[in-house]
Amino acid sequence: MNFDKHLKFTIQEETEQNLQGIRLVHRLAFQRDDEAEVVDRLRENCPVFISLVAKIGDKVIGHVLFTPARLIQNQGWSIEGLGLAPLAVLPEYQKQGVGTGLCVEGLTRAALSEFPFVVVLGDSAYYPRFGFKKASTFGIRCAYEDVPDEAFMIKILKPKIMTDVEGVVYYRQEFDSVS
Ligand SMILES: CC(C)(COP(=O)(O)OP(=O)(O)OC[C@H]1O[C@@H](n2cnc3c(N)ncnc32)[C@H](O)[C@@H]1OP(=O)(O)O)[C@@H](O)C(=O)NCCC(=O)NCCS
Repeated sequence: MNFDKHLKFTIQEETEQNLQGIRLVHRLAFQRDDEAEVVDRLRENCPVFISLVAKIGDKVIGHVLFTPARLIQNQGWSIEGLGLAPLAVLPEYQKQGVGTGLCVEGLTRAALSEFPFVVVLGDSAYYPRFGFKKASTFGIRCAYEDVPDEAFMIKILKPKIMTDVEGVVYYRQEFDSVS
């Protein structure tokens, strides 16, 4: 898929050839190794995930990953959705629509999957443009302590399944090493 609004780049599923480029994007965007390492662990361990790269030619300039996240309902049973994390764009390509392209394409694919929701823990000024809403308004909270209320957001993909669903969302344990 082409996103021509600001910069000419393509978005596609990751391939083996992209793995070094993905690591570099996260290291440079977050200025540390944690996110790059967690992406490698999640890729190894997750049975299903959505991993998209933004590219110019062969160069990876952005990456987004969606992995399973479990919502444990107040009644005790659970429902599996997706967590969007991490999202990163090489610093020199930021604010040119690349992050938007990755989110839009990833959420389009998520909507075609069986997963009924996507959660994200991030900037409340950025993610609402993709349809994310404060999760607490649905009675849904993040398992991590000390998360600002507005930073934990949810996008409902299957409203029928999510009717009256309330509870706590647990990200995969690979994220526990990322602060
Ligand atoms: C956050 C990030 C992925 C956004 O990607 P991007 O390609 O720069 O974003 P886009 O060009 O698609 O969107 C730009 C818009 O988002 C806004 N924006 C970008 N990053 C933002 C942030 N962290 N918080 C709030 N708004 C942000 C810009 O101001 C701009 O707004 P406008 O469209 O109203 O002018 C990128 O800045 C990045 O890699 N940051 C470092 C890693 C990071 O913090 N990842 C997110 C973790 S939740």
